[in-house]
Formats: sequence, structure tokens, C-alpha cells
Amino acid sequence: MDAFWMPFTANRQFKSAPRLLVSADGMYYRDDAGRQVLDGTAGLWCVNAGHNRQPIVEAVQRQVATMDFAPTFQMGHPLGFEAAEKLAAMAPTGLSKVFYVNSGSEAADTALKMAIGYHRVRGDAARVKLIGRERGYHGVNFGGVSVGGIAGNRKMFPVALPTVDHLRHTLDIARNAFSRGEPEYGAEWADELENRLLTLHDPSTVAAVMVEPMAGSTGVLIPPKGYLKRLREICDKYGILLIFDEVITGFGRLGQDWASNKFGVLPDIMTCAKGLTNGTVPMGAVLAKPAIYEAFMAAAAEGAIEFPHGYTYSAHPLACAASIATLDLYRDEKIFEHAGEMAPYFEEQAHALKGLPFVKDIRNLGLVAGIELESRPGAVGKRGFEAFVQCWERGVMVRCTGDVLAVSPPLIINRQQVEQLFGTIADVLRTLQ
Ligand SMILES: Cc1ncc(COP(=O)(O)O)c(C=O)c1O
Repeated sequence: MDAFWMPFTANRQFKSAPRLLVSADGMYYRDDAGRQVLDGTAGLWCVNAGHNRQPIVEAVQRQVATMDFAPTFQMGHPLGFEAAEKLAAMAPTGLSKVFYVNSGSEAADTALKMAIGYHRVRGDAARVKLIGRERGYHGVNFGGVSVGGIAGNRKMFPVALPTVDHLRHTLDIARNAFSRGEPEYGAEWADELENRLLTLHDPSTVAAVMVEPMAGSTGVLIPPKGYLKRLREICDKYGILLIFDEVITGFGRLGQDWASNKFGVLPDIMTCAKGLTNGTVPMGAVLAKPAIYEAFMAAAAEGAIEFPHGYTYSAHPLACAASIATLDLYRDEKIFEHAGEMAPYFEEQAHALKGLPFVKDIRNLGLVAGIELESRPGAVGKRGFEAFVQCWERGVMVRCTGDVLAVSPPLIINRQQVEQLFGTIADVLRTLQ
């Protein structure tokens, strides 16, 4: 196990007691001892249609045998265009231009560059500043780390972009503990964009505001009612682009296709990844309003490259094949609708954990729940990690961020599996120290 330097992992601890997944099917993994493990996290928020779905597997197999790779710099292949048409057709109305990348992190940095470039090609080159939010996660590349607001991810790299500032996060347990769905209080946190940050920075220097509609990775922070609408209004007032990072919230996670549609707020640019291929082949995408694309086209000379940006594997043929099959599967099996129908039962089961030892808050929306535990004095994250390991030992995979247990199962989950998921967490909480 020596050679693999594992990502976001306590390597030494893991290698002393490994947790190895060797196969998967539907709602379940199998580990190296042959045990069945319920997938309570859709892998890493990405396997929305469940594991090893035949239509996707076959589409990828067919494609790899037909054409393994094709460049998309000054060249193209039909699947790239077909995949983009399909994604644009199911995207929030108005986001019809698709730029392909290979991950959520690349999507974040691409979106930020697109925003700054957009203002520049329109002759508004002073707009270079970016506003993110505390406890935001936009992946691990320099733009995403800078605009993101996770202290632990930033402090080892004190070379973040200098032109960034942050809104405060929206978690307010004192007022909103145990809210079901969107919390009641906190829309006013959006006002600090206008009152504090734009006053400080001068709005004419700000290119974009980027947020996750629901912050997943830092412990499931659901936006307070009206908060995102307020952000949209303030951005409109000052000509600032609004970017939604829908890497987690896209593709049915919140019980509807997109968070943008669920909250009725259309961003100018949106990122997605993960569920785009059901996790099978790495792929992400940045979707933009046509006016943004047109601005780049209008500014460049005939024959010139309008946006000097892209990746060798942008619109990789295998990823495109996987994405087309995935989006068809979501539609044919009405997977987002199923998530919406299952959400109330999921909410009920999640909130049934209230009152168990150490449970400080429960937050949920669609098929996501965060169960925040009291931290052990002087050992933040230890109790959450122990709960995660004990769930694993009892055959259920959850995630922990600090002392928050996050669950986000494949959207095909049934009632009995919802009960297994929360029942196992309940059993673990009863034995936790
Ligand atoms: C909101 C959000 N943005 C970006 C990312 C980064 O995605 P990736 O790990 O594919 O680079 C994640 C990953 O969890 C995410 O949750």
C-alpha cells in the first residue's frame, strides 16, 4: 500500500486498518472480505442512479472499442456535440452553452476564468475580484481554494488569489437547529454582500460571486429561505455575475433536477460534475448564458481562439458516452422524481435521530442530510470519525466532515434502505463515547 499517496485521507491511519471496496451493484458495495455495504453517500455524491448500471456500462464499453480518444482543440467528435445538446436541454432554462472539463475543481476554476474573461472582452477589465463564502467548497485548484472558504484547505497554501473576499457562511444553529428543509432565518446574511463587501471593494471591481446553493462538503449547510434570491438581486443591481456550483446539488440530489430550479434562482454560470456521468468516467461542465458565449465570440478576431482555456480531456469520448447514457437513464427511470418522492420519508427518518446522544443539529433537503454531533472537547472531528468507522463496520458507508455525518445515498434508494441507513446511524450513536 506504500505507493498510493491517498487524497484527503489520513494515509498512515488508513493503511494501518484499510477499508477496501472491490465491487458494486445498485445501492451496495462489496468490500474485500465479501461484506455487503450500503452506499449511504453515492460514492462521493456522484453515483445518483446507483452502481454499475448496464446502459452506462455498455455505452462506455462500446465507445472505448470504437474511438478511444479524440482531441477537441481545433478538432471535434460527434459525441461531444450530442452530449452538450443533451445537457443543455435538461439544464435550467437559459444556461445553454456547455464547456466541458474533467472534474468539479476544474469546473470551478473554469467558471471563475470565464467570469473574469467575460468582463474583459466587454471592455470592463477592472472587474477582477471574486467573492466566495466561508465554508464553501469549490474543489482544490487555486481558484477554487481561494474562493472556497475551508480554513484547513487554505492554510497549507498561503498563496491564494489576492483578489478574493468572502461572505459569511449561513449556518446558524442558535436560530435554526433541527430545521426541516430550508431554515427560516438568515436571508439577511446575503445583505452583507452589498453592505459590507461591495462597499469595501467598490462594486465596479467585482467580477463574480460564487456559492454552492447548498454547501455539501462542509457539513450540509442548507440556504435560509430567500437567501439566494437576495444574492441574485444584489448581483443584478451591480452587474456582477452569479455563479452556482452545482457539483453536488445537480442531477436530482435535492429532490429536483437542479438547485437553481428548486430555489427559483437562475445563475449566470453554473458548474456541475459528479452525477454528470453517474461517477463512471471523470467529467465536469460549466454552463453559461448565451450572452456570455456571444461576448467572447464578438470580441475575438475572425479565426482567433476566443477563450484560451481547455483540457486535453475536455469532452473525452468515453465521458461523453457515459454522460449521454446517464442523462437518458435519469429521464427514463424518472430518477429525480423518485428522489423527490422519497425525500419526505428520508427527512422523517433523519429527524428521528433527534434526542440521541451527542446530536446537536440535523439538517436535510432532498436526499441529503447532515447530522451534527457535539465535538469532544479538544478533539474536534474525533467523534464524527469514530461514528463513520462504526457505521462502516456495521455495513453502512456514510461520510464525516469534522463532527458532521453526511448522508447522500444514490437516488434510487427505497424505504427499507432508508431505514437501514438511519437505523444503523442510530445504533452507532447509542454506543458512541
Ligand atoms: C461543490 C463542489 N465543488 C467542487 C468540487 C470538486 O469536485 P472534484 O473533486 O471533482 O474536483 C466538489 C467535490 O466534492 C464539490 O462538492
